Amino acid sequence: MKVKGFLKDVGGASRVTKMRQELIANGSPVPDPKDPIRELADLLHPGKQQFTVTEIRKASPTSTTYRFSPVNGHVPVFQSGQYVNFYLTVGDSVLTRAYSISSAPYEARLAEPFFEVTIRHNVHYLVPDWFLENVKVGAEITAAMPFGQFLYEPLRDSDHIVGIAGGSGITPFASMAKEIAHGKLDIDLTVIYGSVRHTDIVCGDELEAARKAAPDKIHIIHVMSDDDDWDGEKGFVTKEIIEKYASKYAGWSKDDPANGPSFFFCGPPAMFFLIDKNMKEMGVPMKRFRHDATAQPAVKLIPGFPMDQVGKSYKITVMRGIHEDVIDAAADEPVAVALERAAIPIDTHCRGGECGYCRTQLLEGDIFVSPLNDGRRAMDKELGWFHACSAYPTSDLKIKIPII
Ligand SMILES: Cc1cc2nc3c(=O)[nH]c(=O)nc-3n(C[C@H](O)[C@H](O)[C@H](O)COP(=O)(O)OP(=O)(O)OC[C@H]3O[C@@H](n4cnc5c(N)ncnc54)[C@H](O)[C@@H]3O)c2cc1C
Ligand code: FES
Repeated sequence: MKVKGFLKDVGGASRVTKMRQELIANGSPVPDPKDPIRELADLLHPGKQQFTVTEIRKASPTSTTYRFSPVNGHVPVFQSGQYVNFYLTVGDSVLTRAYSISSAPYEARLAEPFFEVTIRHNVHYLVPDWFLENVKVGAEITAAMPFGQFLYEPLRDSDHIVGIAGGSGITPFASMAKEIAHGKLDIDLTVIYGSVRHTDIVCGDELEAARKAAPDKIHIIHVMSDDDDWDGEKGFVTKEIIEKYASKYAGWSKDDPANGPSFFFCGPPAMFFLIDKNMKEMGVPMKRFRHDATAQPAVKLIPGFPMDQVGKSYKITVMRGIHEDVIDAAADEPVAVALERAAIPIDTHCRGGECGYCRTQLLEGDIFVSPLNDGRRAMDKELGWFHACSAYPTSDLKIKIPII
């Protein structure tokens, strides 16, 4: 019986193999441009696209909103909370930078579709300064989108989100608020937004317009850390403030902390440490707390960082296909930054160790991987792969990266 079954299997397999060989022989050598699956995939994930800047406006005295319209085609489908990745040449550096989309998804489906980002320039930053100086209406820029998991997921999240934001971390919530106000996202949103002074509030007018359009669904609480002219909440965004407004608007209760709203945090790393502590003290379960940081923490804030390395520099031998370059790298900057400074393209997206786009192979030498941003798979750790955005050289290195 077994032999008969085996022979039947072999017969079947050889027939299938023959059929496949015939299909391959008769098939087109180029992908069918009319393939509906391919068309859908291109629609959702078109890869790099060209966009034209069609509007620039102030979002606060120290932040600017840039509107982008597609040169050809469309704005890919995205959800509030996701980000776009820009591919830039700034001076001698070749860079990528992520920006959360501050416009609403429905605005990307209008007859004249667009998406917007809001960039903060409260101090001198490399890329925001470059945008201010170089990006005018009519400029073309290369970008890819959408990326990121900082979004409302009905199977996972409560239908009331308490969004906690600092600085430019408000932008994903601005997108959510607009989508809710337009009736396209059926959730409630309470935003607790920390700024230093009221003049630092980013997207303040747009948040207020959305709140007025849906006053039962959107609540905005501003908290100023250093503003004598402010009549509302003052100080940092503390556990007490979060509890107060999460109870008032989102039904959060100390007696049942696991079944309240979902908490979403977006902001600078220093604020994340405080909010993370608050969440633990409030008993919010991990599945109800989502977070996105807008920057890497300074090395002095990274647990275990070898501070005796600060000020040192190393050589990195970079293998890319047939190319081999030797570049300089500061010990207190991630390997990705050394590559960018040397104009060697590396595809960074989240810059937080999570997405894996900057996955790099370590061939020789030693690195320090930030435990705060170590998103490597177990097998990658075993085999010497690391994420260049969150690893620092502690000796001369030899690495291998893909050509992009
Ligand atoms: C998912 C995500 C969403 C974000 N959303 C927003 C948003 O909505 N709005 C917003 O304003 N920001 C947002 N950010 C932050 C944004 O991507 C930029 O980091 C921010 O605008 C600061 O710009 P910068 O990185 O050039 O700043 P800098 O602090 O000036 O530079 C960052 C690093 O670049 C390195 N560097 C310095 N000089 C050079 C050089 N010549 N070549 C190469 N590297 C150099 C340094 O190591 C420095 O630490 C987001 C970030 C992420 C990850
Ligand atoms: S850019 Fe996402 S892991 Fe490095």
